[in-house]
Amino acid sequence: MKFFITGGAGFIGSHFVDYLLKKKHKVIVYDNLILGSKKNLSKNFQNKNFKFIKGDILNFQKLKSSMKNVNVVIHLAANSDIIKSSNNPIIEIKNGTMGTSNVLEAMRFNNIKEIIFTSSNVVYGEVEKLPIKENYGPLFPISFYGASKLACEALISAYCHNYKFKSWIFRFANVVGPRTTHGIIFDFFRKVKKNKNKLLVLGDGNQSKPYIHVDDIVRAAYFIYCNKKKEINFFNLGTDGFTSVKKIAKEFLKFMNLDDTKIIYKGGKRGWPGDVSKVRLDNNKIKKTGYKFYISKSDKSFLLGMKQAIKHLKGLV
Ligand SMILES: NC(=O)c1ccc[n+]([C@@H]2O[C@H](COP(=O)([O-])OP(=O)(O)OC[C@H]3O[C@@H](n4cnc5c(N)ncnc54)[C@H](O)[C@@H]3O)[C@@H](O)[C@H]2O)c1
Repeated sequence: MKFFITGGAGFIGSHFVDYLLKKKHKVIVYDNLILGSKKNLSKNFQNKNFKFIKGDILNFQKLKSSMKNVNVVIHLAANSDIIKSSNNPIIEIKNGTMGTSNVLEAMRFNNIKEIIFTSSNVVYGEVEKLPIKENYGPLFPISFYGASKLACEALISAYCHNYKFKSWIFRFANVVGPRTTHGIIFDFFRKVKKNKNKLLVLGDGNQSKPYIHVDDIVRAAYFIYCNKKKEINFFNLGTDGFTSVKKIAKEFLKFMNLDDTKIIYKGGKRGWPGDVSKVRLDNNKIKKTGYKFYISKSDKSFLLGMKQAIKHLKGLV
């Protein structure tokens, strides 16, 4: 099989690359490197099954001509930093929704019919009855990032219906592990590197969400892709339980040996305007497929992923 991975030089994408090459598939990465890096792929450049193309999904002509003879597209390229677009919705409209539209059109032009899409739990918006099942509705996201992801899901659905595409849509929890390019660990690391006397935390620290290890993301998505062949296959992909921001701050400072750093909480119950402060995902649908989680609990996934992420950020791995 030949996989085309948009955003394959980023955090999650580069793990997909490693996994698929190990499975002896052919992989083309298409990435503009705004957040990702060739370093994340360095061990693969010698592999004859691997090809890297520096390109933007907003450059339709290049995207279209790069996608030749591909079987499946894994579409990850997006603005992955949800906070960045809270003051600039256009980032999501362009990079998220328009970008996905380009990916789907390029697929149509090249007669490629299968897409794996990396959506997010934030499409659900703020839900009272937790945990959230996949059939929850109506969906009213509260961030521009979530709104764009939902629009992308809707576009994919229409392509499936009109052009006989098949899709695998995953609504991820928060993902942790080595090579992270954004998110809470990345943010904390950057802050204490600048000033180790204080750690500024967005929100009151009571925000609590499930965390999933990047290895589970990649393995589960591949497992579901191989075993579920409906027109639209959609799943929550998270862990059981949750980890609070207070706990993350404490564990982070402990692992960094920063016992004297003062934690300062800034803001109210949300970390930023589009932040869903309490998330719980129902993972029964994915469990019923027979997928066996590498780590099924949020706290455990988080701790391992955090330690690996910090070692990577320090350049130790
Ligand atoms: N990390 C998480 O917790 C999480 C949770 C839910 C969903 N997701 C989704 O998973 C996907 C991957 O996220 P990630 O955490 O690996 O982020 P990332 O930023 O590390 O990876 C995204 C990659 O896409 C590339 N990219 C961005 N815009 C592009 C464009 N216009 N053209 C070509 N390449 C472009 C970046 O350079 C980067 O390498 C994203 O779609 C993100 O929204 C991530």
